[in-house]
Amino acid sequence: MSQDTPVLLDARALTHRYPLPRPHPLARRPARVALHDVSLTLASGESLGVVGESGCGKSTLARLVTALERPDAGVVRIAGQDINAASGPALRGLRRRIQMVFQDPMGSLDPRWTVARIVAEPLAGLAPEVRPTGRRAQAAAALAAVGLDAAALDQYPHQFSGGQRQRIAIARALVTGPDLMVADEPVSALDVSVQAQVLNLILDLRQRHGLAVLFISHDLDVVRHVTDRVMVMTHGRIVEDGPTHAVLARPAHPHTAALLAAVPRFSAAWEGRTRHPHHPAAPPSPTRPAAAGDDGPGCVYRPRCPWAVDRCAVASPSLDRLAATPPDGGRRVACHRAVDVLATV
Ligand SMILES: Nc1ncnc2c1ncn2[C@@H]1O[C@H](COP(=O)(O)OP(=O)(O)O)[C@@H](O)[C@H]1O
Ligand code: SF4
Ligand SMILES: [Mg+2]
Repeated sequence: MSQDTPVLLDARALTHRYPLPRPHPLARRPARVALHDVSLTLASGESLGVVGESGCGKSTLARLVTALERPDAGVVRIAGQDINAASGPALRGLRRRIQMVFQDPMGSLDPRWTVARIVAEPLAGLAPEVRPTGRRAQAAAALAAVGLDAAALDQYPHQFSGGQRQRIAIARALVTGPDLMVADEPVSALDVSVQAQVLNLILDLRQRHGLAVLFISHDLDVVRHVTDRVMVMTHGRIVEDGPTHAVLARPAHPHTAALLAAVPRFSAAWEGRTRHPHHPAAPPSPTRPAAAGDDGPGCVYRPRCPWAVDRCAVASPSLDRLAATPPDGGRRVACHRAVDVLATV
């Protein structure tokens, strides 16, 4: 992000816990840390990928930055305004600027509603000044932006294919004229052939509407196609971030390397040119699952890490800049051995 580009989304030190069932009636209620001290910024028109395995906190982050949930700690600002401190018309104005697309297009579209009602629905709550006839016209315009004909307005979700339904969900996200779209695994439920079409649509919307995108996915190949920067998460924390091409070409965190090694295309590309101790698809530890439940000393990734040394058991690594200059300028890594990991690639 250039220093002159205005910051659209600024999330600072977000921490969020979910309560777990009490082990017995008199016990204190335990909690799972779904997100721990996560900060990110996104400039107008920029695209940031968030990757990590299931349970690492990606959707929690999406819900916090779209104000669907309030963080236990931390601040979310849209264009400088704290979204959790706003109310009334100011909050509606902020919500119009940031819209969300979910993974399952069928589950996120009410099957009893017409497409016109589904797509226009955000306007009813967020733009009460738009009259019903205006809502229909804006829904038609949003459908046109995603390549669907106005004839779709009076049809129902079950009359469309999976890819078309995700287009309808994207049209609903566009109808308020947002600056930022948060897309949580938007193509994961689609056939591979349809995935490319929806990804191309998202790229097209970025170019034509200057839309910023927070693109969440467990699939590095997908993220590679649609993002400028990428942020890798595990255990509710960011472990590495930086320009997508740099991070994917030369991972500096063992977890990024493991995620990459699990993608056949990347594994093949690395064969013979790396001494990296890949540990393909390292499974989450049963005692320390992908979402951290403990904040004990040491690195949360240690039980799964082939690079771990004694220091990793006692000191938690902070997310530090890797270098001040290209090719690694702008990258941050949370690993005591980042320089060693990088040197092997
Ligand atoms: N509503 C909830 N109640 C309790 N635990 C939750 C809830 N939502 C998520 N979690 C837990 O928080 C952690 C992070 O979940 P989530 O953000 O959905 O991860 P991801 O999207 O990366 O799969 C997981 O351990 C998950 O089980
Ligand atoms: S700090 Fe240690 S345990 Fe954690 S990722 Fe780096 S090498 Fe592995
Ligand atoms: Mg999720």
